[in-house]
Amino acid sequence: LERVDIDLLIETTITDIRDGEPGLSNITSALSKGIDVITTNKGPVALSFYQLKKIAERSGSRLRYSGTVGGGTPILDFARQQLKNEKILSVKGVLNSTSNYILWKMAKDKVNLKDALQEAKNRKIAERDSRYDITGIDTACKLVILANSIMDFKVDLKDVTIEGIENVSLNNVLEAENAGKAVRLIGRIEDRLRVSPELIAKTDPLCVEADNNSICFSTEYNNYILIGKGAGGKETANTVIRDLLDLYQVELLQNKTVSGVALPLVS
Ligand SMILES: NC(=O)c1ccc[n+]([C@@H]2O[C@H](COP(=O)([O-])OP(=O)(O)OC[C@H]3O[C@@H](n4cnc5c(N)ncnc54)[C@H](OP(=O)(O)O)[C@@H]3O)[C@@H](O)[C@H]2O)c1
Repeated sequence: LERVDIDLLIETTITDIRDGEPGLSNITSALSKGIDVITTNKGPVALSFYQLKKIAERSGSRLRYSGTVGGGTPILDFARQQLKNEKILSVKGVLNSTSNYILWKMAKDKVNLKDALQEAKNRKIAERDSRYDITGIDTACKLVILANSIMDFKVDLKDVTIEGIENVSLNNVLEAENAGKAVRLIGRIEDRLRVSPELIAKTDPLCVEADNNSICFSTEYNNYILIGKGAGGKETANTVIRDLLDLYQVELLQNKTVSGVALPLVS
């Protein structure tokens, strides 16, 4: 970044929610030089949203991060663009594909959590460090990003009460099944932020299958539900294109050149 003259950095390095690195340094450095940033990396946005926003405001650069919540499903964009004139009162949903896949698979094939997790890894929907998925931290990061960026909360990960699915047994899942219900890892933003496994009716629209995500925005006027793929390479790459068009639609329509760098470097 010191040596290149570019408009845009696309930052998709590994998520580390302990210190946000290396993404946080890459993004901070680009924004402070006036370079726009598109990222799918939750770490820096969950840990340092207000700090990054301030740097961008000072230098006139822009930060887009629609892939950080909901993967392919445009959750942040929907809220940011379509709910501008409505006060969002609460948010609840399934925001982690891996844990949803595991809970769904346990019930469907009567397998234990370990085997269902292995299948999620084989399907490449788990985070590189799958403890983020299982312990609820990934969902908590997404709640923090949503709360800060669309509801004007000032929260960080310490403000989220987190319980993951690590102690959910096959018995728990099958008992729920027999009662016409399902166990799902639900994230909630109400007065407080909370992640925990909940029993929900199978007819509840939030009770999605496999690696889907679901979210319900309750506003002063209505309830809105979005459902779609929450992870996957193509889906997440598509969020980068979505952000690219959001930032540069005018330039691209006029056939102007936008120069950029992607980290990690791709050939
Ligand atoms: N895939 C999805 O479904 C999805 C959905 C939403 C958000 N995201 C986020 O999008 C980002 C990319 O996802 P992914 O699935 O491509 O993750 P990934 O498979 O873990 O790949 C991350 C990339 O970062 C590189 N990397 C790791 N440490 C680095 C460092 N210190 N400096 C520079 N590069 C480094 C890795 O290189 P090596 O392979 O050489 O280690 C790898 O190319 C992650 O932050 C992820 O959380 C992914």
